[in-house]
Amino acid sequence: MSLLLAPMEGLLDFVLRDALTRIGGVDRCVSEFIRVTNTLLPARVFYRVVPELRNGGLTLSGVPVRPQLLGSDPACMGDNAARVASLSPNGVDLNFGCPAKVVNRHGGGAALLDEPDLLLRIMSAVRRSVPTEQATTAKMRLGVNDDSRAVECAQALAEGGATELVVHARTRADAYRPPAYWSRIADIRSAVQIPVVANGEIWTVEDAARCRTESGCQSLMLGRGIVSNPALAHAIRGETDGLPWGSLLAHLATFWALVCQTQQRRQKAGRLKQWLNFLRRTYPEAQDAYMLVRTIHDPQAMDEWMRRAGWLESLPHKTGLGKPI
Ligand SMILES: Cc1cc2nc3c(=O)[nH]c(=O)nc-3n(C[C@H](O)[C@H](O)[C@H](O)COP(=O)(O)O)c2cc1C
Repeated sequence: MSLLLAPMEGLLDFVLRDALTRIGGVDRCVSEFIRVTNTLLPARVFYRVVPELRNGGLTLSGVPVRPQLLGSDPACMGDNAARVASLSPNGVDLNFGCPAKVVNRHGGGAALLDEPDLLLRIMSAVRRSVPTEQATTAKMRLGVNDDSRAVECAQALAEGGATELVVHARTRADAYRPPAYWSRIADIRSAVQIPVVANGEIWTVEDAARCRTESGCQSLMLGRGIVSNPALAHAIRGETDGLPWGSLLAHLATFWALVCQTQQRRQKAGRLKQWLNFLRRTYPEAQDAYMLVRTIHDPQAMDEWMRRAGWLESLPHKTGLGKPI
């Protein structure tokens, strides 16, 4: 059984990955997508999104991070996959699930799920470009407007050389609306020979158990659920009931230190509020704090608020990845 941390552009970047993998229970991460259009991206782009590449492809707590590419041109995807593979991650992941209009208009992300032949060509080009010891994985939704071609798409990706497939059990048209159709993952699982990982709407230990039963998958990918409850992976493994708020505070302090070190001034306060907003689902303390800080935009004022609240009293974790701005 593996538990993977989902890629989430604009939310789960190297800063939050650092926090969530410190808390633990996660076996592997996928980075937020890196858009490939018609150029060979310079290494600095990959390092910016995945600074863990400067640390052997690992978060500071030693969890591998797989860079994710998004694009629709097979040759260009192959070239960029070769380049990012040369920076020595343990694999390269491809995005066939992004529902954003701006991405889909250019034929990327979930829009490709109407074109299994193209999926096959992209996946094959990437597999050919990446050394065999590095994994080439893919993440897909069930389809664009309906799920009728889900199995066909999964088979195309497997035939093209995907070594593992994550299935977010919704179509692009479903966006992020519950439910996730976990039983459709079982259909995909029985049609391909590669490992399949289930994803979508796993918020609790009970959801994880039901998802496993309905999809037949042991391995799961956790997204918004683990951002809301950072102990979710441990809890699914039966290792804990939860992380007390008092213990989470040290992680929030470390998170804030890394935010201050690496993010643009205008983004800093927003990053803390963004995580607190998710944590409100689990912690009443996060709800109280969120109501108090939601109008704070100035990072200095946020820092002072955190000091007054006693959140910065202990800073036990070493920060380090990422380029200070
Ligand atoms: C804000 C946000 C950003 C996302 N960015 C990506 C991305 O960059 N690549 C990707 O493959 N999926 C992306 N996703 C989809 C998630 O990885 C995941 O499939 C989805 O949230 C369902 O899982 P969950 O219900 O556990 O959150 C994103 C989702 C959200 C909410």
